[in-house]
Amino acid sequence: MTGYVPGEQPRGDSIIKLNTNENPYLPSPRVLAALRKATNGSLRLYPEPSSDTLRSAAAEVYGVLPENIIAGNGSDEILSMLLRSFVGPGDRVAFPVPTYSLYDTLIEIQDGVRAAVDYPSDFSLPESLAAQNAALTFLCNPNAPSGTLVGLQGVEQLARRVAGILVVDEAYVDFAGSEGASSLPLIRRLPNLVVLRSFSKSFSLAGMRIGLGFAPEELISGMMKVKDSYNVNRLSMVAATAALQDIPWMTRNVRRIQRSRGKLTAGLKRLGYHVYPSHANFVLAQMKGANLKGVYEALKRKNILVRYFEAPGLEDCLRISVGAPQEMKALMNELEAIGRTPPP
Ligand SMILES: Cc1ncc(COP(=O)(O)O)c(C=O)c1O
Repeated sequence: MTGYVPGEQPRGDSIIKLNTNENPYLPSPRVLAALRKATNGSLRLYPEPSSDTLRSAAAEVYGVLPENIIAGNGSDEILSMLLRSFVGPGDRVAFPVPTYSLYDTLIEIQDGVRAAVDYPSDFSLPESLAAQNAALTFLCNPNAPSGTLVGLQGVEQLARRVAGILVVDEAYVDFAGSEGASSLPLIRRLPNLVVLRSFSKSFSLAGMRIGLGFAPEELISGMMKVKDSYNVNRLSMVAATAALQDIPWMTRNVRRIQRSRGKLTAGLKRLGYHVYPSHANFVLAQMKGANLKGVYEALKRKNILVRYFEAPGLEDCLRISVGAPQEMKALMNELEAIGRTPPP
């Protein structure tokens, strides 16, 4: 196996990497040109402490004010800021499970109290989520690992019913099937809503580490207080600002991924998997009652990496990122071959 080689096209090696939901397509040429231009002596200077240029560009694209935006070193950093801003020891943090595992880690660091509520089997919003009396409630939407989406009405009702702040983690929302899946416009009328976006997925910039948080100004000012002075580096800011100036590039790649997602879903169903309706750049494939560790390991031996969760209730699932068409073809060929081989 070759792994990561600095300076190489990461997709040029022999590994088919479908385990961390990266985008198989390149970032916009405008991003690469802007980065080349910015790679100069100005790197001796600190970056803008509050990422003002990026916030202004994002405000224009998303129709909010710069004061409604905070930038982070990936949306993971903004998740961490949220916990540090709004959760103290003993405070409850609610979220439906299974979901993004980082929430657990961050709650533990903060000595918060985990108030996890099981999703029903169709991954619709659990009725009891709003009643957890939590300082912070997370909703990953579209959810990882299921790819399922909760509609805007459900999000708004949840925000109105929770005791504290509702954070909607929209790392994957650009891949949602429908326009208007994002809760971002709701920040104008809901004082307790925070919406998170990432440049790692739809914009193909996982390596640059940039995320944005959107919220009413008062919440953003609270988070600014716990932010490190220079939390986003100069080149990441340049990359994100340029990416926002080429939205058509992003949406074209999203459409390609949506098409591949449809084909992957159909192929997996033909092999007997149940596939949850995905609004993200991955699918959750389930073989009810089976343990798919063997399939995960068989794929790994063929240099195809997918995500297997050693978690109760998820052993019969694999999460598979939507890759380039030739990667999907290789995956399907291997899954078909595995399906024909009787288990040892
Ligand atoms: C649900 C969810 N939120 C946030 C993130 C983190 O994204 P970023 O790369 O912007 O830190 C991920 C990354 O996989 C994710 O799956």
